[in-house]
Amino acid sequence: MFKSSAEGRCGFRGSFAAAPADQDCSGPYDGGHLAQTYSALCCLLVLGDDLSRVDKPGIVAGLRACQLPDGSFCAHSGGSENDMRFVFCAAAISYIIDDFSGINIDSVTDFIRRSVNYDGGIGQGPGLESHGGSTFCAVSTLSLLNRLWDKSVLSTAQIERLRRWCLRKQGVGFHGRANKPDDSCYTFWVGASLSLLGADAFIDHDKLREFVLSTQDATIGGFSKYADSHPDALHTYFSLAGLSLLHEPGLAPVFAALNTTARTAARVGQIRLGHQPP
Ligand code: FPP
Ligand code: ZN
Repeated sequence: MFKSSAEGRCGFRGSFAAAPADQDCSGPYDGGHLAQTYSALCCLLVLGDDLSRVDKPGIVAGLRACQLPDGSFCAHSGGSENDMRFVFCAAAISYIIDDFSGINIDSVTDFIRRSVNYDGGIGQGPGLESHGGSTFCAVSTLSLLNRLWDKSVLSTAQIERLRRWCLRKQGVGFHGRANKPDDSCYTFWVGASLSLLGADAFIDHDKLREFVLSTQDATIGGFSKYADSHPDALHTYFSLAGLSLLHEPGLAPVFAALNTTARTAARVGQIRLGHQPP
């Protein structure tokens, strides 16, 4: 069992560079980071780990230390940017360790509700521009917290406006905000939001597929942001994940809310039931 070095600072770091294990963990950045903790837990699940050696109470204390009075989360307890990205990380981490006691749920749902804009989309925080990335983070958080269909969080009219905002982000492919060019990664960010909102049937699948495939590099493989650009790992992952949500044959099914394959997400359920990896 890995033990937290200090209450509220537990979680996974990006690397060991900040402080070797034999040194005093007192540097300003030498605590867990919510994005790294989310990523590390997903990697462990992908690798078939049962998370039994993860210090879950420490992670819960770390989450608690990162929630701010407005309900949002910052990335680490030393203080950082606070926005919808870290709200999503907090929800995903809690879902994976099957313990939501590190989140004040009324406060976080209030933050999400206050981040809904006049155009129906959701920003990184109250008053910030609606964006496909922050919309995914908010919608998936509500889904993981089992609050997406709670009318006291988002009304039927707000859900309908959110669906329409997402659908209006389709040109040929999807873009992340008004008047921006289509970008392959939003095939996932916006496509997954629509899937969680039960409105993916209204996507123009053929056009979207055509766009995503046009971003594939015919020489070295991989997908880029736009056609005739340079492929990278991020856009390759999100293109494949988005195509999977469109039921492209030959791709592993995706569990949209956790941004993992369904197989990885199923590990969470198996661990809850005490089943060993196959
Ligand atoms: C580009 O910003 C940023 C993205 C394409 C990522 C969007 C995704 C999120 C904010 C969710 C991230 C979630 C976690 C958990 C870290 P830009 O301003 O260059 O892009 P734009 O012009 O397409 O809006
Ligand atoms: Zn992109």
